[in-house]
Amino acid sequence: MTNTLPAQTYPKARRIRFRFDQRASNDKYFVENDMVYSHFVAGMSGGFPAGEESFIRSVRRVADRITDPHLRKRVTGFVGQEAMHGQEHRKLNDKLVELGYPIAWLDSEKAKARMLAIEERIPPEVHLAMTAAAEHYTAVLAERVLGSDEIQQIPGDPEVWNLLNWHALEELEHKSVAFDVFRAVGGTEGTRIGVMLAMYSLTLPLTYLSLALAVVRDDTARRQPVRVAREAYRLFTGPVFRGLMPELAKYLRPGFHPDDIDTSGLLSRWQRELFGNDGVLVDHLK
Ligand SMILES: [Fe+2]
Ligand SMILES: [Fe+2]
Repeated sequence: MTNTLPAQTYPKARRIRFRFDQRASNDKYFVENDMVYSHFVAGMSGGFPAGEESFIRSVRRVADRITDPHLRKRVTGFVGQEAMHGQEHRKLNDKLVELGYPIAWLDSEKAKARMLAIEERIPPEVHLAMTAAAEHYTAVLAERVLGSDEIQQIPGDPEVWNLLNWHALEELEHKSVAFDVFRAVGGTEGTRIGVMLAMYSLTLPLTYLSLALAVVRDDTARRQPVRVAREAYRLFTGPVFRGLMPELAKYLRPGFHPDDIDTSGLLSRWQRELFGNDGVLVDHLK
């Protein structure tokens, strides 16, 4: 097994600030002037703050059962990073709502109440298994975003790119924390794989459905069905989705651990590029 981080290091929450109000343009379709792609990225960003709060609650529910001091420190880093992600994505999401993206409901009080009610009804191990599985999704996507020149070359708002690259980097830094907490509190392979199977089977239907609903509510997109079809085809055969399902399925293998996928090279390269001496985002740190 390859460890992506030396045992004594912990994910560290960076205090950072993005500046979406200084955006050069107010183009609604901020990813490559592509309606479907932009709705896809907006939908993901819209879902992050509430999702990440649920991840944090899932590890806090079992915090008193984590006895290993090293794992406790990693949990602190994980919670700090996810809280910061939610905070910065909310700023982008406010702009996206202003631009007309139908994402506000994802972070609404009503959605939160519904989520809390579900969490109350499921055992802590299942809640954690959902987080660990979701963290595999974010790690796989992060590896794609940071590792693919094809994705990095997609024209888009520079500050949105900065946010996505920072988020992707930290997802790789803490990719195994929830997983290790799940194991430490006695989560079984049956629960882990069963929860992932359920999420895996819903991935594409839910992605299609949420994108379709967003596009249907967009007047400009609704008037251009041929363009929408072309863009949707391009998205689902492009570098984000190409080969994605087999990569997600690696998690279903009994005995799988997130560190089996070696992302250490990507991590050190992007830690240097974003936060090294001349790092692109050093001026964003508070
Ligand atoms: Fe995150
Ligand atoms: Fe995460």
